[in-house]
Amino acid sequence: MTQSFQKLRALTGMKDILPDSSSQWEQLEETVRQWLASYGYRNMRTPVLEHTQLFARGIGEVTDIVEKEMYSFTDSLNGDKLTMRPEFTAGMVRAAIEHNLLYDRPHRVYAMGPVFRHERPQRGRYRQFHQIDVEALGLPGPDVDAELIVMLGRLWKILGLNDIRLEINSLGQAEERAAHREALVTYLEQHKHVLDEEGQRRMYSNPLRVLDTKNPAMQDMANNAPKLFEFLGEESLAHYRGVCDRLDDAGIAYTLNTRLVRGLDYYNLTVFEWVTDRLGAQGTVCGGGRYDGLIELLGGKSAPAVGFAIGVERLLDLCSQQDQAQSLPECQIYMIHQGDAAQRQASLLAEQLRDHGLRVLVHAGSAGFKSQFKRADNSGAAAAVILGENELSAKTASVKWLRAADLPAEQQQQSIAFDQLATELKARI
Ligand code: HAM
Repeated sequence: MTQSFQKLRALTGMKDILPDSSSQWEQLEETVRQWLASYGYRNMRTPVLEHTQLFARGIGEVTDIVEKEMYSFTDSLNGDKLTMRPEFTAGMVRAAIEHNLLYDRPHRVYAMGPVFRHERPQRGRYRQFHQIDVEALGLPGPDVDAELIVMLGRLWKILGLNDIRLEINSLGQAEERAAHREALVTYLEQHKHVLDEEGQRRMYSNPLRVLDTKNPAMQDMANNAPKLFEFLGEESLAHYRGVCDRLDDAGIAYTLNTRLVRGLDYYNLTVFEWVTDRLGAQGTVCGGGRYDGLIELLGGKSAPAVGFAIGVERLLDLCSQQDQAQSLPECQIYMIHQGDAAQRQASLLAEQLRDHGLRVLVHAGSAGFKSQFKRADNSGAAAAVILGENELSAKTASVKWLRAADLPAEQQQQSIAFDQLATELKARI
């Protein structure tokens, strides 16, 4: 009797990235690494799992992420409460404190990888998604905030993206937020009848977050609420102007959005988002800001910091709309062979071609020439190298250029001596 097993599927909101699209990911990652290195940023990698308390304390208890989006569980072996990282910043800061990175000199660091949030999936919103996270630790000035934003402007240019706009705001300092909070709570109390359940619950615990609502019935109330920006003192305004002046110098356009508060509680002074209309409802490609209080909050000696994270899925969606990303072919050269001796020779020659930096696929197993040619064509290779009995005895390979239909026939097919093969192929690819 045969047993049939039920097919298993990936979890809702978690995507497989298959070979055809993963070449776009690799190209983007490579571009991003070079871009970051050109500004002196170095890679850092932290664990996917952390103590739940790190995120609860770092991101803030009264935030959507901590209240309802974290993948948290109790370790059955020792009872620890753990969480799959919903963002990088808290973990990066924890690691910087733990390894004393912060006290010798500033550190410009970045990380890339998956993060997890239990949100309702839709286009551009997943439960496992990827971020490119960039943090400048230990630097206080508006020059660094501006540098990060200018850097992003450069990345969009490198990727050929021009439909992304910048919104910025300042969240000031703790005392300014406290004064604003008082005014805001009074205002919310006056408008209690329009607040939804969540708004009423957060009215006292995190009133600023009430303004971050997506509820259409609360938009008028949120638009007319006292603005934190109006409570900023001279120092905070000077910091804000310092950022704006440098953005003007660099020719980066921005709009002040006084309702921009971000979804995490650790920010002060500069916050910003890059948004686009090309991605439907989930148009924020990148968000970040200054978080001068977080390092101390997580147990370190007080030090300033600023950073951002880019949503990779959203960025790739934008890139593919602009035709910037092309799928990388499986190989450049496809080796076709007939007979055991030819197969072995093909494997040897393939190694030599790889020594010259070529990407080579040797047909696996035996098959007729016709079906091997079909595979070669489908592989996206530029050329097929053919080895049969005649080629073996003459120590010469037949090369057929697969994407050269518009060239004269003699240039589409060539015979090349084994010892010349690598240099000749390399010259044409
Ligand atoms: P965030 O705004 O929560 O910031 O996330 C950054 C970016 O991740 C968003 O702008 C968006 O592109 C992407 N993103 C967020 N949620 C999802 C989702 N469910 N599916 C797909 N993409 C998503 C942070 O995480 C901060 N740690 C950024 C930061 C770094 N601030 C300072 N340093």
